[in-house]
Amino acid sequence: MVNICCIGAGYVGGPSCAVIAYKCHDVKVTIVDLNQARIDAWNSDHLPIYEPGLEEIVFERRGKNLFFSTDVDQAIIDADLIFVSVNTPTKKSGMGAGMAADLAYIERATRRIAQVATSPKIVIEKSTVPCRTAQSMRTILEANSNKNIRFDILSNPEFLAEGTAIKDLTNPDRVLIGCLQTPEGFTAQQKLVDIYTRWIPQERVITMNLWSSELSKLAANALLAQRISSVNALSAICEATGADVDEVAYACGTDSRIGPKFLKASVGFGGSCFQKDILNLVYLSEQLHLPEVAAYWKAVVDMNEFQKQRFTHRIVRTLFNTVTSKRIAMLGFAFKKDTGDTRESAAITLCSYLIQEHAQVAIYDPKVSHKQIIMDLTEPGVGTNETDVEKHVSICNSTYEACAGADAIVICTEWDEFKMEHTDYQKIFESMNKPAFIFDGRLILDAPKLRDIGFRVETIGKSV
Ligand code: NAD
Ligand code: UDX
Repeated sequence: MVNICCIGAGYVGGPSCAVIAYKCHDVKVTIVDLNQARIDAWNSDHLPIYEPGLEEIVFERRGKNLFFSTDVDQAIIDADLIFVSVNTPTKKSGMGAGMAADLAYIERATRRIAQVATSPKIVIEKSTVPCRTAQSMRTILEANSNKNIRFDILSNPEFLAEGTAIKDLTNPDRVLIGCLQTPEGFTAQQKLVDIYTRWIPQERVITMNLWSSELSKLAANALLAQRISSVNALSAICEATGADVDEVAYACGTDSRIGPKFLKASVGFGGSCFQKDILNLVYLSEQLHLPEVAAYWKAVVDMNEFQKQRFTHRIVRTLFNTVTSKRIAMLGFAFKKDTGDTRESAAITLCSYLIQEHAQVAIYDPKVSHKQIIMDLTEPGVGTNETDVEKHVSICNSTYEACAGADAIVICTEWDEFKMEHTDYQKIFESMNKPAFIFDGRLILDAPKLRDIGFRVETIGKSV
């Protein structure tokens, strides 16, 4: 039986290794983490993350060939292959603060492998890391293992998107596996290829050199985010000219060279990856003395910030240049639909701007806990503190509760339940102050129908 250990039971380690267990019943998968609460949740009826289809997979394989544990050392000792799927957040202080990836978690996990391993291991970088991190991992492993054990390192970046993780993992566009171009490297690579090809067609399992694989992950995220910033930049031109951003995106997307995906204008991209990974690329470019390249990618993040600020300004301007004491219903707090994740969510920035304008913000999100919302709004650097939140924020349990007595509704997340077929906007209109405004930051509402009800509607990328 092949024995797999995954270090890091987060949004990536949990689902990606649970799918391996689900697809390969003869592979034993142990997912470990230092965070006891997280592991307890993985072992309970309430998994620590919400992801459509995840429960079915975990509940079916848990206790059979899928295990969750805090015993990191034992899982390392038992494993043939070890996925390192720990967090690599943006550094908060020191060299490269605000841009470079913090590799402390990678280093700690790598040192642990070196210290406790008693047999050869294939160590797989699953986390998103700067180019050439595998080299540092190799150096640490070789310098700290006193038992002359062989370690092979592979790069196997993860491309799942939250909300569709199980679909992405069971039917991925591609899987990348990078290795050192040596006979031992190829042998290790083949072992991982053999796992993935159990359910993924061979031609979608792409092999390449380590550094290309590491860089491809940063590159793919940068290119995806760049499309969103491009369409968001166009949305500003649409609003000023009378062009409609959905129509422009459709026109461009039907060109097969451009393609239709990732051209949806929005209040700004969020999530734990895009901003972090682009800043990582910016830092890498600076380190390589390529300031023009760094500036090019940095502009993608700058445009995203501009979009959030521009949308807030539109709200304030439209509400007669003041939102002081006005109740603003914020629908959605997660960074996208079908996830409870709020990391880098545009809603956090918007909420903070509105609080600074002294609005009363009533927030509702179907999957984000009240505690999480408070934590996000009181994080250092967000611009709002506990007193602000106490005075200006109320957290609601339904769309109707958030909208009752509101002057305006702001759609921040594209949850299906906010769409017109699932919500009674006539009832909402009747419960609001007049004039009743809706700001659609996700282009999910039918503006003419809302105007018929009596709403004043403002949509990203469309002029009134
Ligand atoms: P996460 O914060 O949800 O999970 C990481 C987990 O690793 C945490 O639970 C933490 O406690 C654990 N951990 C840290 N150090 C450890 C150690 N030494 N031993 C044991 N456990 C340890 O992070 P995530 O969202 O799963 O992301 C993990 C990596 O995958 C990051 O590099 C990220 O950039 C990348 N990635 C994320 C996504 C995504 O959608 N979230 C997609 C693709 C790639
Ligand atoms: C992203 C990548 O898609 C995935 O391949 C990688 O592994 C991790 O980072 P994720 O952040 O989970 O995944 O979600 P994604 O669907 O990419 O959305 C990111 C943000 O962009 C969200 O805030 C989303 O609402 C926004 N977005 C996406 C748009 O504003 N417009 C679009 O057209 C697409």
